[in-house]
Amino acid sequence: RVFRRLTAAPYNGAMNDNHAIDYARYDHIRPIRWTGDALELLDQRKLPFVVEHVLCSDSDAVAAAIHALTVRGAPAIGIAAAWGVVLAARGLDAGDGAAALQALEPAMARLNATRPTAVNLAWALARMRGVLAAAGSDWKQVLALEAQAIADEDLAANRHMGERGAGLIAPGSGVLTHCNTGSLATAGFGTALGVIRAGVAQGRIARVFAGETRPWLQGARLTVWELQQDGIDATLVADSAASHLMKAGAVQWVVVGADRICANGDTANKIGTYQLAIAARHHGVKFMVVAPSSTVDMGTAHGDAIEIEQRDPGELFGVGGVRTVAEGIQAWNPVFDVTPGSLIDAIVTEKGVILDPDAAAMRAAFGG
Ligand code: MRU
Repeated sequence: RVFRRLTAAPYNGAMNDNHAIDYARYDHIRPIRWTGDALELLDQRKLPFVVEHVLCSDSDAVAAAIHALTVRGAPAIGIAAAWGVVLAARGLDAGDGAAALQALEPAMARLNATRPTAVNLAWALARMRGVLAAAGSDWKQVLALEAQAIADEDLAANRHMGERGAGLIAPGSGVLTHCNTGSLATAGFGTALGVIRAGVAQGRIARVFAGETRPWLQGARLTVWELQQDGIDATLVADSAASHLMKAGAVQWVVVGADRICANGDTANKIGTYQLAIAARHHGVKFMVVAPSSTVDMGTAHGDAIEIEQRDPGELFGVGGVRTVAEGIQAWNPVFDVTPGSLIDAIVTEKGVILDPDAAAMRAAFGG
C-alpha cells in the first residue's frame, strides 16, 4: 500500500489558498533554545526514542555538539555557531567590538572547523564578525542581538519559502524528501519540510514519502517522527526504493534542502540526493531545492569546488549500535554529494524562486 492518502486533518478535500497555515499546529519543535546564559540543544543523536536536551555553557561545547550532530542541518548549525560566539564572549573584557573580535578569533575558528560542507556555518560567523567589527562598548549586547536575528530571520524565511514552494506543487501530488530538513534542522518549520508542511496544509500534497537516509538515518529517525508530531501521514521508504517509487507514479516532486548552493546552481546536500535527481529526471519527476539565501555561496563557482565532509566509516558498520558488518571491512563514508544545477527544476529561497538554475539565473537572483 504505497499510495496511502493523507488521513490527518486539516486536509478536508478543499483547497486552502488563503495561506492561513496554522503554525501553532505545524511548527512546535525547536532544536535550539537560548536560555539567557547557555544554549540548550535537543539531542538529535537520541531521537526518536529519547527526547533529551544538552546544555552548552561555553563555545567549545557548542563546537563539539555541532561536530557530533547533536545539532545538525545547515541553518541550525549556523544558528548554534552564532550563539557559540556569544558564549565565547562571556567573561571577556574588551573596550570595543574590534578588540573583542581579535580575542574571539580562535573560538570562531574552532566553531568554523566543525563541519566543512554547509556554508551556513561560515555565513553566520561572518555575520557575527561583521557586527562585532563595527560595535562599540556595548559589543556583547550587539552579538546577542545578532545571534537572535539570525535565528528569527531563518524562521521567517522558512515560512515564506514554504508558501512559495508549495505554490509550485499541483493539487493531488505526491512528494519524496530526503534527510531531515524540518524544524529540527532550522530555527523552525523547515526548508523542504516547510514546503511539505505548507503543501499539506493547503491540500496540495496528497502523499509524503521520506527516504531513510543511510547511514545516519536522518529520514527514518527524524523526518517521519517530526511529521508524526504534526499529524502528517508520511510513508518511510528505503533509499534504494526511490526509483521504483517514481516509476510507480507515486511522486510528482522530489523536495530536498541544501547545504551549499553554488554560483551555477550546483547544490550540495545529504548523500543520496544526487541519485534522486538523476532518477527524477529519468522518470519525469520534478526536483525542487528549498534553502534560505544563507545557503547560497556565490563565491564558489561550481560543485566540484565544494569540500565534501567525510565521516567515520564506522557509521556504516551497524544500525542502532548493533554491528551488522564483519570485522576487517573497509568503508567509504562521504556524507554529502553534489547535484548539478542542470538536474534541478526549481531552487526556492526567501528571495525568490529560480527556475532551471544556471549561472545567469543565479546571478540575476543574487548578484555577484
Ligand atoms: O549531516 P546533516 O544531518 O547535518 O545534513 C543535513 C542535510 O543534508 C540537510 O538536507 C540540509 O542541511 C538542509 S537542512 C534544512
